[in-house]
Amino acid sequence: MKKQLEQLSAMEYEMLKKCMAWHIRPHQKVFLEGLFTISTSLRFDNLKVLELGATARSTVSPFLVARGANSTVTCYSKSELSKLSKNLSLLAYQYGLVRERLHTERADIFELDQKDRFDLVVLKDVLGGVNRQHDPDKFRKAVGNCLSILNPNGALLIIDKARSLKVIHWILKKLGSAGRNEWYYFTFNELKQMIPRGSFETVFVSHGVLSFGDFGGGILQKIADFFDEHCVERIVPLEKRVVFSLVVKRK
Ligand SMILES: C[S@@+](CC[C@H](N)C(=O)[O-])C[C@H]1O[C@@H](n2cnc3c(N)ncnc32)[C@H](O)[C@@H]1O
Repeated sequence: MKKQLEQLSAMEYEMLKKCMAWHIRPHQKVFLEGLFTISTSLRFDNLKVLELGATARSTVSPFLVARGANSTVTCYSKSELSKLSKNLSLLAYQYGLVRERLHTERADIFELDQKDRFDLVVLKDVLGGVNRQHDPDKFRKAVGNCLSILNPNGALLIIDKARSLKVIHWILKKLGSAGRNEWYYFTFNELKQMIPRGSFETVFVSHGVLSFGDFGGGILQKIADFFDEHCVERIVPLEKRVVFSLVVKRK
């Protein structure tokens, strides 16, 4: 991640942390490493982005706009829209972003406007929650909808929590609020199977094992992050870490 961070100004880095809002280190790493596979300079000049399932508290679009993109930032719930819009205005003001590059609207992943096309579609911590009955066809449909609105050189960036080691999966399911609310944790193979064969290439990265949830960013989180970075991630394979990003690009 050193390479990626070197390309950011201190202000962009601070904004990134603020926009991502929670469970910072693994999410930040998979996000930047995923983006790096799309543009090694981390520049996204005039790229047309669609972010689905954003909230006022957490949206990655301001960061992408700071790096040159135009983004349509969408939320699923109507009641979130005005909060989201206000927060984007605040972030734009604080970090000197062109507000007009951040357009807000409501969107449902199952009812995307099929006439519009994007260079990058972002799903950050959205996919595992779009069907609480865990119907594989619904998940495949959600991913297929995102792929169908990509421009020919476009990419889909999915960030979510995967099915990790048994003990961590158990904790997330039994004690985590998302897990108890039937969030779905994909295995690496399930993710691969959701992508239509032949026409797309994928890049999978993952981080976080002990740092598997939002511990409030305090000392506990720092300890978990430290051990993950310096030893645990070295022994736990990619497919068994908690937070992943999957970049899907047309071949
Ligand atoms: C765990 S929150 C994540 C929010 C934000 N992206 C983040 O990273 O913190 C899941 C989000 O997915 C949204 N969502 C649920 N169903 C959706 C759907 N069918 N289409 C688009 N977004 C959906 C929810 O409204 C919620 O904002």
